[in-house]
Amino acid sequence: MQLFIDSANLEEIREVSRWGIIDGVTTNPTLIAKEGKDFRQLIKEICEIVDGPISVEAISMQGGEIIKEARGLSRIHKNIVVKIPLTKEGLKAVKVLSKEGIKTNVTLCFSATQALLSAKAGANFVSPFVGRLDDISGRGMDLVREICTIFHNYHFPTQVIVASVRHPLHVLEAALLGADIATCPFPVLEQLLKHPLTDIGIKRFLEDWEKIPKKRDKRPR
Ligand code: G3P
Repeated sequence: MQLFIDSANLEEIREVSRWGIIDGVTTNPTLIAKEGKDFRQLIKEICEIVDGPISVEAISMQGGEIIKEARGLSRIHKNIVVKIPLTKEGLKAVKVLSKEGIKTNVTLCFSATQALLSAKAGANFVSPFVGRLDDISGRGMDLVREICTIFHNYHFPTQVIVASVRHPLHVLEAALLGADIATCPFPVLEQLLKHPLTDIGIKRFLEDWEKIPKKRDKRPR
């Protein structure tokens, strides 16, 4: 399973990339706006930190305009994946861009039929937003299950990015369902790591280490 960070914050991206667990990055206009930095410069810096797919969202709404914008975005770096909203115009753009070898991530996916159409159009990735479905009393992970089943049934190469992840259980369920990728905000990545018994165990071992008689240096060599 691949883990992406859902962030445009350079400190967060740098930190998790040092953990050795990050395979890619997803951004969106909301995350980019939070940083208050020049858009292209910020994307370039993200691409220098993580050597993997870096999703950047196109904001055009008409097929031709989306295609032009996607071509421009893809020139920023070889790892750019263009996020395209799940609309008729978006699908038209995905079809053209997939033939040109420009990678696409069809975003704002809220139904399995939307995901099916994205795969048919040639999307490299599709992003079901699980948290936003849960927010309106839907079942985000049911959607992921349906999409994974459909893609498996027909051998679609489109990869599923579980997005709008809010807590570790989303990641656990995504992994159990065999979703290709979960993209997580930094706090969720930290939550995946933490366990109180690990902290208690370390504290106890360090306390017990102090009780061991030592000849010279206190630290092991
Ligand atoms: O990047 C897209 C997605 O992960 C957004 O999540 O928390 O704004 O629903 P959220």
